[in-house]
Amino acid sequence: MAAVSVHVPVMAKEVVEIYEGFTGTGSEAVFVDATLGAGGHALAVLEGFPRASLVAFDQDSDARSLASGRLSLYGGRVRVVPENFRGIARLATEEGWRGASGILFDLGVSNMQLSVPGRGFSFQDDGPLDMRMDRDGGSITAEEFIATRGAPELARVFREYGEERYAYQIAKALVRARERGESPATTGEFTALIRRTLPAPVQRKMGGHPARRVFQALRIAVNSELEALSEGLDGAITVAGQMGVIVVISYHSLEDRIVKRRFLQWSAEGRGMVLMKRPLVPGSDEIEANRSARSAKLRAFVKGQPASKGKDARRHGQGESTLGKA
Ligand SMILES: C[S@@+](CC[C@H](N)C(=O)[O-])C[C@H]1O[C@@H](n2cnc3c(N)ncnc32)[C@H](O)[C@@H]1O
Repeated sequence: MAAVSVHVPVMAKEVVEIYEGFTGTGSEAVFVDATLGAGGHALAVLEGFPRASLVAFDQDSDARSLASGRLSLYGGRVRVVPENFRGIARLATEEGWRGASGILFDLGVSNMQLSVPGRGFSFQDDGPLDMRMDRDGGSITAEEFIATRGAPELARVFREYGEERYAYQIAKALVRARERGESPATTGEFTALIRRTLPAPVQRKMGGHPARRVFQALRIAVNSELEALSEGLDGAITVAGQMGVIVVISYHSLEDRIVKRRFLQWSAEGRGMVLMKRPLVPGSDEIEANRSARSAKLRAFVKGQPASKGKDARRHGQGESTLGKA
């Protein structure tokens, strides 16, 4: 069985530096971590802002337990919320913590989720086909999803969320397996079905594992990740205070597109400024030390209009700060 590896935070230094551009390190600010995970970013923010408090969301009870232990040193400065970040605006109103100085979304799955076969996220290990981040809520498992959706819906999910060229063939193969009473119940069975369906020369030419795209697509669908992101962003812009920064780290183009468009829309509506035209990406040292960082893209938006020039968030020759250019 694979060892559980604790998640290493991606571009944590950059997140703290962006926050520092708008909030004094001695301030009693409120920060929100919408995706607590193992608490790596949360630790960096609590260390960087010794008088600030942090409200942290995660819909995964395993993540909350692990992170709560790691953050226990910070006592009353941290509040861990067992909810989907979709509810950020409602929670902020109910609990009276509007006016956040920084809100971070570090999207996707954590290494803990990927490395536990029983969670069903990984095509590398055999386990139940689950893939739910929130196992206490009402969402259905990946096994139930593929056993109950028609071929057109399955094909749409594999094509739109996984950019899988053989989406329709895989969807048809799933429906035929279901008709034989052999719908995949484990990650191993699902991977074997994908391998049987994709032509051998196509599999040989693929850069990564043949099941990678379809697993990503199914995970996005099971957890309604894109809908949650849209709602979470809409909530975040209302929860952020003046000069509050919304930072999003995404790991695939579907997420990044939503973030980019939402930021441009807010900017056009005069709600604030996009901090860098192009996203920040991790440096080669970080990617070498943490392979999970390789596809990361960081975008940031500041609510309101800065009175003076903030800290330039330019990094690695990729991002371009638009601060002071408005
Ligand atoms: C990439 S990890 C975050 C890692 C974290 N930044 C750290 O430093 O350890 C993403 C986390 O966000 C959680 N998550 C994803 N979507 C969520 C949502 N809509 N609501 C709440 N939590 C979510 C996942 O359960 C996972 O633990």
